[in-house]
Amino acid sequence: MSEEIDHRSAFQSRYAINEKRFGIVREVRTELPVIDVGALVEDRSLDAKQAVADEIRDALINSGFFYMTNYGVTEDEMLEVRDWSLRFFHLSREAKEPARCTDIMGPRGWHPVGDEKITPGYEGDYKEYYDFGLNLQDADVPEIERGPTFWPDEDALPGFRAHIEAYIDRMRGIGEKLMRGFALSLGLEETYFDKSHAKPFFNMRPSWYPPAKDKLHDKLWSCGPHTDYMTLTMLYQDHVGGLEVMNLDGQWIPAPPIPGTQVVNIGDMMASWTNDLYTSNPHRVRNLTNDERISLATFMGPDFKTSVECLDVCKSADNPPRYKPITCGEHVLNVMAGAMPEDVGRNARAAMSNADVTDQFRSADRIGAN
Ligand SMILES: [Fe+2]
Repeated sequence: MSEEIDHRSAFQSRYAINEKRFGIVREVRTELPVIDVGALVEDRSLDAKQAVADEIRDALINSGFFYMTNYGVTEDEMLEVRDWSLRFFHLSREAKEPARCTDIMGPRGWHPVGDEKITPGYEGDYKEYYDFGLNLQDADVPEIERGPTFWPDEDALPGFRAHIEAYIDRMRGIGEKLMRGFALSLGLEETYFDKSHAKPFFNMRPSWYPPAKDKLHDKLWSCGPHTDYMTLTMLYQDHVGGLEVMNLDGQWIPAPPIPGTQVVNIGDMMASWTNDLYTSNPHRVRNLTNDERISLATFMGPDFKTSVECLDVCKSADNPPRYKPITCGEHVLNVMAGAMPEDVGRNARAAMSNADVTDQFRSADRIGAN
């Protein structure tokens, strides 16, 4: 069909419509599919899980993104997590300060507006956000991966920590089940990714986008264009909306909120594992309303010990690996070294490694920045 599409960008060249190396023809989509992932999350029969995995394969080849429904958390429960997040962001600056992340290599925490410049050459995003990790107990693993987190004083927001930690546990479990679906979607044993994600590089991030439509412009976004870095992203968005995704035709299409769903997409590590069979799409957020917007993102990737490199099922003599090996930890650290302000990113910049591999994923054209 669309072999004639003029591949105007590096993104489109990377995800060519006619992928002779894989023997597939991709379809340009203008809406993201909705997939019922209940069979995966509830660990039903292998046949039932494979059927979902086949839908996921189609979505990740043609859209890079899909909505998951029936994933194990109700919309009412999500609204509670949203409300707890709003309560935190509405605290005074003084009350939020004990939770502030002051070194991206060290404990995670709250970031004020402008802290993250996700798109090189753009202004820092117009959002506040709060990064939470799992606080894994592995002395030989760098702190940036283990994920200890600064919290506000319990007196400032009683119950906040318990509620957020319970939500993190649930999303970790759902992420593990989705990874099994990803393995099945690639024709692998369903447990293929279990080991590499047993102690995952994990981040749960509520973001708060204040009304800012008069402030935003071409180089200032609620969240500027980017691709995600890890394996898997799950994103709850409230009723306000504003997420846009680049489709295979290079067009930005809306990904509006659908109650009862979270958006799922892959990041650079899955693009590397699959040799770009699966698309790690650019996406961006603009809150052009007079409402405040909350999103809750859960990012999951392999541990620091796992070298991410092309899967055997995604390469051949005619289809060599496009990416050099890197660990998820190295890649995230390299990206953060460039995205953080001088003081917060100082130690990340000193610790960068394999930066040339990160650069393979981060050209302006590839992340949709022009
Ligand atoms: Fe993202």
